[in-house]
Amino acid sequence: MPGPQGAPRHRTTRRRLPSRPARSIPAGDRNHQRRSHRHAHAPPQHLRDRGHIRPDRPIQRNPSTQNHQAHPFQPDKGRPIMNSPTIMFPETTKIKPAPRHTKEDLARFLNTIPYEPERHTAAEYAALGTRARTAYDRQRKMFLSGGITIHTPDFLQARLSLAESMNENIHPDRDPSGLILTGDATLGKTTATRMLIRYVHDAYVRQFPDYANHGRVPIVFIEVPATCTGRALMCTFAHFFGMTVARTDTMEMLRQRVVDMMDRVGTRLVVVDELHNLSAANKGNGESVDILRSLHRDVFATFLYAGIDLDTGDLLSGPRGRQIAARFTMMPMERYHPSSEADHEIWRGIIEQFEDALPLLNHKAGSLVALSAYLLERTNGSIGSLGRLINGTANGAVGTTEAVTRALLDKKTIDFAAETARIETLARKTRSRQSAGRIGGTK
Ligand SMILES: Nc1ncnc2c1ncn2[C@@H]1O[C@H](COP(=O)(O)OP(=O)(O)OP(=O)(O)O)[C@@H](O)[C@H]1O
Ligand SMILES: [Mg+2]
Repeated sequence: MPGPQGAPRHRTTRRRLPSRPARSIPAGDRNHQRRSHRHAHAPPQHLRDRGHIRPDRPIQRNPSTQNHQAHPFQPDKGRPIMNSPTIMFPETTKIKPAPRHTKEDLARFLNTIPYEPERHTAAEYAALGTRARTAYDRQRKMFLSGGITIHTPDFLQARLSLAESMNENIHPDRDPSGLILTGDATLGKTTATRMLIRYVHDAYVRQFPDYANHGRVPIVFIEVPATCTGRALMCTFAHFFGMTVARTDTMEMLRQRVVDMMDRVGTRLVVVDELHNLSAANKGNGESVDILRSLHRDVFATFLYAGIDLDTGDLLSGPRGRQIAARFTMMPMERYHPSSEADHEIWRGIIEQFEDALPLLNHKAGSLVALSAYLLERTNGSIGSLGRLINGTANGAVGTTEAVTRALLDKKTIDFAAETARIETLARKTRSRQSAGRIGGTK
């Protein structure tokens, strides 16, 4: 069984899909952005050509799905869902939450290659001893609780835009540009950001394989804390580098030290997540946006921002905010919409990749893709809710039904937002059926 440190595996492209229509436009032109709503246009060919949705790892088809008879489990045969599933805890205490607040955390994240459990047939699984089976179940549950990442068209578009910005930012007299990922909660901004960090890091390592030995920190990543002022933002950067901050340090002093540090360690990408937490007005020091602008000017790096509704919020809407927005590419990440055929096609591709990645012994390949309309309604077109629904159900199926079925999905409760939206949709449908019935009855 390959260990977590195994070489990164390259994926095969399984399916060509249309990507969403190009939405990465200069952020300054927000009216244009509203005019070019994604449902209004078919995806252009050049994006369709790039629109491969690929998982992070090669997909191994589940061999057990070839021969359902061979499997000891009997899904869909009346086996009840366990009311109290066994809880498995990670064996090591060294596991830390994914957010990386220091350069050491980030290095650990980058040096840990995502691990996908080996695929076993039902017969191989049945032949494992109790301990090996428990260990295998634990690996699969770990993988299902955050190991599956899908290369959505949004991510592919973001990756292209970021690469372009980085290539445009290499001259000392450049006009700094960057990328902003914006959208509602749980639509995948942070996940895309992490995937982009890995992508840029891979490229950097190819060019500077021994960079760590020279004390370089090519990528800086911070999450803006709640109701953050300009000074607190600089403290967060300082904390990332392990710098000490005195209570008497002013924002300008901290800013200068952070800029000097980034210069010294050769930072080339600065990633700021949760940017909506930065208060638009920074008391006593003008607008927070000025701090961002000064960083763009003084740090020889490309900036990647992610946050909720950055295209419509206060932060980038004043005159100086618009100066940033005009230089950055704004990528709105949106829900997939049931009325858009292009979205349905992308959605099916996303489900197919989730389904192919399921490490279950008896899952019927294609059965989830066949439920794509149901899944779109159930999750209100959110990839976050979809991931929670499919992976959460699969998690419960490990060691029990070993398959994700419609019956199990129906029983799974997901996030409040998606469940509320679903209830509203169902109520709307009932109302329109009733009024159609009334109209039909009066004829
Ligand atoms: N590309 C993806 N592949 C697999 N799962 C994804 C992907 N994007 C999002 N998810 C799932 O959705 C969940 C929410 O995504 P994420 O945290 O990236 O959203 P977000 O837009 O940053 O939300 P918030 O605004 O609340 O911070 C993730 O935990 C993950 O399970
Ligand atoms: Mg996030």
